[in-house]
Amino acid sequence: MARILILNGPNLNFLGRREPEIYGTKTLSDIEAMCREKACELTFEIDFRQSNHEGELIDWVQGALDSYEGMVINAAAYTHTSVALHDALKMLDIPIIEVHLSDTKTRETFRHNSYITPLAQKVIAGQGAEGYTQALTYLSSLVKL
Ligand code: DQA
Repeated sequence: MARILILNGPNLNFLGRREPEIYGTKTLSDIEAMCREKACELTFEIDFRQSNHEGELIDWVQGALDSYEGMVINAAAYTHTSVALHDALKMLDIPIIEVHLSDTKTRETFRHNSYITPLAQKVIAGQGAEGYTQALTYLSSLVKL
């Protein structure tokens, strides 16, 4: 069974309460439940994690070496700032799907750059919570078992 790591960055633990007009009303737990249902369908085993700390996210990416067959990542604000996360992701040789609930390219200009995109097989943005399940479906065509 393919193992998939789903990583979530800062402030995503406040989904549901945080700017619902932009990010929707689903909580991160709702999104995790959606991912678990989709993973079951696709016969993936998932680890779903969130951290507000850049270093912790990097530790998890490093820990993914040789442990997972694919990754879904919404690095939230670190998407636009973290060369360190970029460098860590660069060490992985598994498919990476970048997800954003909102369409970052049509928002403030400081959200237009992503340090994750050059390393991602696909970017799914502006699809809300469904973006996560779409990412899992896309991964199912890429992961090596
Ligand atoms: C986000 C977009 C980022 O620009 C923002 O900092 C987030 C969430 C999204 O899912 O739309 O925290 O990654």
